[in-house]
Amino acid sequence: MQEIIHSLIQELTQFQINTQGELDAFKTRFTNKKAVINDLFESFKSVPKEEKRVVGQMLNELKTKAYEKLEAAQEIFEKEKITFQIPHDLTLPGDAFVQGGRHPLAMVMNKLIHIFEQIGFEVASGPEIEDDWHNFSALNFRENHPARDMQDTFFVSLNPDYLLRTHTSSVQIRVMETQKPPIRILAPGRVYRNEAVSARSHCFFHQLEGLYIDRNVSFADMQQTLLYFAKSMFGENAKIRLRPSYFPFTEISAEMDVSCQICEGEGCGVCKHTGWLEIMGCGMVDPNVLENCGIDPDIYSGYAFGMGIDRLAMMTYKVPDLRMFSQNDIRLLRQFEKIEF
Ligand code: DAH
Repeated sequence: MQEIIHSLIQELTQFQINTQGELDAFKTRFTNKKAVINDLFESFKSVPKEEKRVVGQMLNELKTKAYEKLEAAQEIFEKEKITFQIPHDLTLPGDAFVQGGRHPLAMVMNKLIHIFEQIGFEVASGPEIEDDWHNFSALNFRENHPARDMQDTFFVSLNPDYLLRTHTSSVQIRVMETQKPPIRILAPGRVYRNEAVSARSHCFFHQLEGLYIDRNVSFADMQQTLLYFAKSMFGENAKIRLRPSYFPFTEISAEMDVSCQICEGEGCGVCKHTGWLEIMGCGMVDPNVLENCGIDPDIYSGYAFGMGIDRLAMMTYKVPDLRMFSQNDIRLLRQFEKIEF
């Protein structure tokens, strides 16, 4: 009997359990009711008294080893089952992706950038959390200048020298401080103002800024560039007009209107029956601003312009409510599956 048990222990140790079939075979051989170990326990009764202690110990060792091995193998199989079962049937079709589209603001922005890139403008960027210098002071907004109130600013409460930029004009300063003319840049981006949220205004929106600085840049250069822009954006028939305006950082300053593309200048609801739509602010960069950035205004001059993107996108894609742009509703984006820009 001792020899049988001994050889069974050896057999058990060498038994390979790598498949479900081998696991079943192991159970049949060692641990099932009808397996060899139970038989041995049956015949233990007839073992002579003096051998009982030794044989009993060996039998228990055999049994413990068998169950330990069985449990270890089962544990591994369970784990494998979990990892192999989760992906279920890999031949089944997968879950469909919810398809969005390119955001209308991004499309308008891309189109504008493309138009200006054709004539040599390059994209520049600056931080959305700005300091007073770049957002106001360097742009010729003097301390207590009423124009600072034109833009309801979100200040950082811990240090009001920092604020959320109210316009992309701050990027003009960042570029002029670090680059030498000729400078020809575009600054697209998000800006923030403390305004009540409604269908037509929001506390954050988007602008595209342009800046050109070189020797002998004139107001006529600006007009021609803006006309090129209007025709590229709105079609060959587009006309522009410039109205005198005021910005601290430009002298002279103007507001540019484009002829309403919906009524072709006849007057309609969209242009409030004027035939014109206000598109952007622009002007010749104020010599003080050039000086603030270390550029000699006796040698260089330039023009700048800035336009809001959100209203342009509303008009282009007939989006009735500005808030839709930031509500993250995929149903809006799904309407723009066809990427135009
Ligand atoms: N920064 C102005 C605003 O947000 C827009 C603007 C006007 C930008 C005139 C310009 C400019 O570059 O020349 O209202």
